[in-house]
Amino acid sequence: METGLVDSLLREERVFRPQPQVVREANMGQAELKAAQTLARQDYRLFWEERAAEMDWFAKWDQVLDDSNPPFYKWFSGGKCNLVHNALDRHILTVNKNKLAVIWEGESGECRKYTYYELYREVCRLANALRGLGVQKGDRILIYLPPLPETVITMLAAAKIGAVQTLVFAGYSARSLRERIESCRPKIIVTADGFYRNGRVINLKSVVDEALFGEDADCAESVIVVHRAGVETDMVEPRDLRYEDLIRQESPQAPTEVMDAEDPLFLLYTSGATGKPKGLLHTHGGYMVGVHATYRWVMDVKPTDLYLCTADPGWITGHSYVVFGPLMAGTTVVLYEGHPLYPQADRLWAIVARYGVTILYTTPTLIRMLMRYGSQYPRKHDLSTLRLLGSVGEPIGPEPWVWFHKYIGRSECPLLDTWWQTETGMFMVSPLPISLLKPGSAGRPLPGVEVDVVDRHGNPAGHDKGGFVVIRKPWPAMARTLWNDDQGYRQAYWEKIPGVYFAGDVARKDEDGYFWFQGRADDVLNIGGHRIGPAEVEAALTAHKSVVEAAVIGVPDSIKGEAAKCFVVRAEGWNKDYDSEDELIMALKAHVKRELGPFVSIRAIAFREQLPHTKSGKILRRLLKAEETGAAPGDLSSLEEE
Ligand code: PRX
Repeated sequence: METGLVDSLLREERVFRPQPQVVREANMGQAELKAAQTLARQDYRLFWEERAAEMDWFAKWDQVLDDSNPPFYKWFSGGKCNLVHNALDRHILTVNKNKLAVIWEGESGECRKYTYYELYREVCRLANALRGLGVQKGDRILIYLPPLPETVITMLAAAKIGAVQTLVFAGYSARSLRERIESCRPKIIVTADGFYRNGRVINLKSVVDEALFGEDADCAESVIVVHRAGVETDMVEPRDLRYEDLIRQESPQAPTEVMDAEDPLFLLYTSGATGKPKGLLHTHGGYMVGVHATYRWVMDVKPTDLYLCTADPGWITGHSYVVFGPLMAGTTVVLYEGHPLYPQADRLWAIVARYGVTILYTTPTLIRMLMRYGSQYPRKHDLSTLRLLGSVGEPIGPEPWVWFHKYIGRSECPLLDTWWQTETGMFMVSPLPISLLKPGSAGRPLPGVEVDVVDRHGNPAGHDKGGFVVIRKPWPAMARTLWNDDQGYRQAYWEKIPGVYFAGDVARKDEDGYFWFQGRADDVLNIGGHRIGPAEVEAALTAHKSVVEAAVIGVPDSIKGEAAKCFVVRAEGWNKDYDSEDELIMALKAHVKRELGPFVSIRAIAFREQLPHTKSGKILRRLLKAEETGAAPGDLSSLEEE
């Protein structure tokens, strides 16, 4: 953690009051908030039951929360539902039928629009095609797509027929993709020939071919290819199918599978401090209730809103608050394919102005990047339609907060810093539009969730004392387990401090109960809001023949919050293959990108004769970090070391 940032967080005393009109019109006003908090405190099961009753169900649940086998909680057991019924089917029976659901803009400038009815028809076509390929309830569909309309359509079609989807961010490498394929064994993979990113065409299908090469060749029965970028693609017969051919003859009507509330909806892989990526499992019932409620409270959506979230659908933010949450609320979503700074630093502002975006949800890294280009870029565009701003993924810090609020939000729009995780599925700590805002703070826990900051024994940390973030009560959108690894789920989240969910973050709470998140308590890196496991980068490095051992730590970065620094013990004879240290460094950086994916970048590599270890042989990353950043090595990390 950057000491400068901690100091600035401790010193931050500015507050921003909400505009009277925002307060008057908020979905969750003062009176509703008070009532919600009171009910949630008295009976949080009843509180969530009332939220569930706001949605459509095929059959009501028998029990709100089954906590008979902790930490494997079940919500709305016995209930029958399907998230897609709430996100799509029900809208076409209302005035939303002809409302725009998705406005998609390609990086190269093209635009495609879908009304709810059009989206519904496309989803039904694909659902029929998938059923025609033999996909059944519970089968996995792996989606390896950039932000395209077909990504949204595939997510909805998979859920509609009861398949378990897993999205893999299109910036991941063949090796990372293969790891996920091996873990979830998908019946179908949906990908694209290629896509546009930063002015280049990225060839995506070839990555799938590489991932499926060899022993896994027979794993996926079919690979469905969306033709987006006109890339020449080898179509392997009979495995590979053109998306466009597949759906052409299909009927635009298809029944929605009736799911148990606890049936799986998706698997999303994320990184931990050790080992391989973990596949977090989310289910239909609780997830749809939690995401729907929190989206409406925090983003305060109105029927006239146009919502833009810059996250890729491949991350949890994309799942909950690009696709599922906004569509359940009947919002119009703007989806952008490409790089936010292409062809120049005002692309995002041009998009806001072109469609009249009203809600903009993005990351601190992007804000810091845009801030560096100065206020002349936003000034060139009419941003007056914006009425609400959001931030997610990493601590924002007061200065980017104030810049975003002032230059983009005209010092009028509420700027809501939302804290949550892949594991939580939904916003957990966030201000509401009616809240008093403190720049750099994510505000207080939302009604119905109980988040706290504690010491390593689980005792409340006390005001302004740093501690571990824990969640004291189950919540509906919580991940249910790790794919095929109940024990790993228990160990990673529920055994570090008994009886509570251990989030892996460090924060402090001020005298008003406002949370100031400071970063990870474990060794996980957060580079530009992307979680990266040090062990995964280390494994990639040691797979190189010039490397014997490697340790990876996060060091402060003024744009991305954190950057990766690697310490490497070289293999004897490395200098036979490379003429200089610089040449080896370049080769190792390229090697990591190839192994893990182009979005994983390493800032620095330092060579060491040896690395520090614990008695049990674990690399002591904390010690390296302390040397590098001047931070004390012990304090908050002792839990992990024990
Ligand atoms: O460290 C916290 C950070 O991102 C982690 C979760 O990462 P992921 O599962 O990839 O989900 C990111 C998007 C929800 C958390 O453990 N994080 C997320 N939001 C914030 C944050 N840190 C500080 N402030 C936030 N608002």
